[in-house]
Amino acid sequence: MPAVATRELSEQVGVEVLDVDAERLVTDPDLPEICEELLERYGVVLFRELHASDAAQVEFGAKLGELAVFPKFPNKNVMEISFDPGNPLAPYFPSNDFWHIDGCLDKMIAKTSIMSARVITEEGGETAFASTYLAYEKLTDREKEQLADTRVVHRMARIQKLSHPNPTPEELADWDRWPQRIHPLVWEHESGRRSMVFGATASHIDGTDPAGRELLDDLEHRATTPDRVYTHTWSVGDMVLWDNTGLVHRACEFDRSQPRRMSRSTVLGSEPIA
Ligand code: OGA
Ligand code: MN
Repeated sequence: MPAVATRELSEQVGVEVLDVDAERLVTDPDLPEICEELLERYGVVLFRELHASDAAQVEFGAKLGELAVFPKFPNKNVMEISFDPGNPLAPYFPSNDFWHIDGCLDKMIAKTSIMSARVITEEGGETAFASTYLAYEKLTDREKEQLADTRVVHRMARIQKLSHPNPTPEELADWDRWPQRIHPLVWEHESGRRSMVFGATASHIDGTDPAGRELLDDLEHRATTPDRVYTHTWSVGDMVLWDNTGLVHRACEFDRSQPRRMSRSTVLGSEPIA
């Protein structure tokens, strides 16, 4: 398989693919497999200023697996991430500012997320990534033992309340449309690697008082110290893929009166958190 030229983006997370343009993205038959290998190894794969159209993003994404359908958007495989008044999902997007895993409340966790920058702000609006594989590796042996059977309750209300601290009854009812999910804290992947599953949807440790969050907060804090984070500063046309099964990510603050628009596609997963 012909390799592509790459450059690491930080010590812990991320790699940039250097010699692929928008045409090669959809025509090179080896690229999907190369990307999967890079995702497994680096977590984040960047194509800088690729300017792939939504259609090209979908065409490429579909080679990585079945794509999620977002019925509310004109291209059913592309969710528009923006605070534009007409965006039907805009009320949910403030929650992207908190470390999270996409689709933690879905029946099956998403495998890969793909996002292209269409309109960016002059300041802020970066996207930050931290490895949950590394988070597990860096636990002490004693912690690995202690946490082996820990299970965590994930709730939509937990992540949404962070940005809507005084919810209306309608908002509360809306969030409850997502049933809570209980996931193991330590995910042993089919590959044999272990990652951790925490972030803003994580409400509390199963079987403990929902108010007791010290452990979850501590794990998230340790996993996301600046030396473990790759923060991507976007240029228009950048396309980033991330391994949603081995990373937490978040959007960084920006002036929401300024337009920022991203196109996101999601490759569905087939491996449950277990
Ligand atoms: C997402 C997300 C981050 C961003 O779309 O799932 O977390 O920077 N986006 O917009
Ligand atoms: Mn996300």
